[in-house]
Amino acid sequence: MKDLLGLLAVWSIGLSGLSLLWGVWFIRRGKREAHHRAMLLATALAALFLVFYLAKWGLYGTTAYGGPEAWRGAYYFVLLTHTLLAALNGPLALYVIYRALRGEFALHKRWAKVLVPIWLYVALTGWVIYLVLKRYGVEPGGISF
Ligand code: HEM
Repeated sequence: MKDLLGLLAVWSIGLSGLSLLWGVWFIRRGKREAHHRAMLLATALAALFLVFYLAKWGLYGTTAYGGPEAWRGAYYFVLLTHTLLAALNGPLALYVIYRALRGEFALHKRWAKVLVPIWLYVALTGWVIYLVLKRYGVEPGGISF
């Protein structure tokens, strides 16, 4: 169950990032309706990620880093920036969608350009953390492979 939740979480955040890229691609070609749908899909997938991630965290707790010491600082830097930016991503996404739904596209575009790189960073580092912990994660009771 723990592995399944981890897998569902990492796939939903990865697909959310892909859907975000599609959304940008669509709007650059003037396809507003497709942009609208792709971005709402990206948001729904990011919300699913949160559900799976919180379920895993609530049921099984966190996994510590047990890899090479030389990488520890880099790993915690990625983990910290991922967590902080993920927390910022949610409210910022709601704000950007709200502006679009009200037809305030100048504000929508301005903040969307801040949001998109943050979202992609969170999606990419989500995978990095998942893969690092799969290889070097230490469970409370021992080492996990
Ligand atoms: C989290 C969700 C969303 C994100 C991240 C997002 C992102 C973006 C970005 C980056 C642009 C500017 C593209 C460029 O000029 O290079 C843009 C433009 C636009 N978005 Fe969104 N968008 C989102 C949701 C929506 C929704 C729900 C709608 C529809 C209600 C929408 C409608 C538009 C429109 C009409 C434009 C073009 C505005 C213009 O050129 O004046 N977006 N969006």
